[in-house]
Amino acid sequence: MTLQEIIALDKKYFMNTFGDRLPVCFVKGEGIKLWDTEGKMYYDFLAGIAVNALGHSHPAIVRAITEQAQKFIHCSNYYYIESQAKLAQLIVENSCCDKVFFANSGAEANEGAIKLARLYFRKKGFPKKFEIITLEKSFHGRTLATLAATGQEKYQKNYCPLTPKFLSVPMNDIEALEKAITKYTCAVMLEPIQGESGVNPADKDYIRQVRELCDRKDIILIFDEVQCGIGRTGKLFGYEHFGVEPDIFTLAKALGGGFPIGALCAKEPFASAFEPGDHGSTFGGNPLACNTAYAALSTILNENLSENSAVMGEYLIEKLGLLKEKYSFIKEVRGKGLMVACEFSTPIANEVKIKCLENGFLIGSVGNNIIRMLPPLIITKADIDLYISALDNVLKEI
Ligand SMILES: Cc1ncc(COP(=O)(O)O)c(C=O)c1O
Repeated sequence: MTLQEIIALDKKYFMNTFGDRLPVCFVKGEGIKLWDTEGKMYYDFLAGIAVNALGHSHPAIVRAITEQAQKFIHCSNYYYIESQAKLAQLIVENSCCDKVFFANSGAEANEGAIKLARLYFRKKGFPKKFEIITLEKSFHGRTLATLAATGQEKYQKNYCPLTPKFLSVPMNDIEALEKAITKYTCAVMLEPIQGESGVNPADKDYIRQVRELCDRKDIILIFDEVQCGIGRTGKLFGYEHFGVEPDIFTLAKALGGGFPIGALCAKEPFASAFEPGDHGSTFGGNPLACNTAYAALSTILNENLSENSAVMGEYLIEKLGLLKEKYSFIKEVRGKGLMVACEFSTPIANEVKIKCLENGFLIGSVGNNIIRMLPPLIITKADIDLYISALDNVLKEI
């Protein structure tokens, strides 16, 4: 099919949630490259919004999908699943959690975290301890509870009444958090490095104070690591940057190397609040998803891609910093590892994104002023040099 035919089909049959998409449709990928219907090649500096950590069609991912699909794809969670147990073990042995539950997406993993936190206190005899405090500018998903958790009115306003007992407070303001806590607060839920609001890492001191506050007030600390987890920020988990451990954290995006999977990860005694019948999923943790995620995570660990993310992220930020010296309209370059944003003082982000696309580079934009780069963790300095030179040309034209 031609691009025009695909667009016409989409416009007629697909719900218009994504508006006018960028006018391109990919047909093939390899490493950090993608090719479109016209045979044009692109460097992927977005990685499906932090999903394709190993780039496209990585042999380990292809092998895991193919081998599992040839055996069988799905069975119910009524039965034991080898790859599910092995993936849970791999996550536990490389993180601070004791037990894992698998979902299909980030929002679903977060739903599980919210349910677990409320259930934990209910089972301890505090059924009214169900309030959850989140941070302004956060993003936790599009389901009704995760929308209520998301501290951005633009996502919430059309879906009122929201799921009750969520409240958001400004990030890096420990007093605001302390003031918002009541005897009914069961959890504080936050992204240690906010992604969708344009890559905003929380202050280290703040996160430590939040941990202390939660300990002092008997409140569960949940980290949403859906975007910042799995090597994205130069460490396997975002929490490692802060010298604290959450009680519960969630994963998705890069966990499956492109295959949909989410994970709810919890320490004891919180994990054990879920007992038979308390939670479940038809697809969550199925053999195909878990075998693929096992391959993705093992490759990230064995090839030390978190370290590559740290080194390449530093290089990318350094090169963007040089562009900042050259172009006065670059206000700030920020990020951790390969979760990087560049903020402009003028509303040119969309134009920059489109021009980058025309020049064969995929990036994201946040609002009008921020571009975001989340390339695969396998990226090299040579790839970054090519991107910086293309971005330089784009900025020159603007
Ligand atoms: C931090 C964070 N949490 C949750 C989500 C929702 O994940 P999903 O789209 O897989 O439901 C996202 C998606 O961007 C995210 O960045």
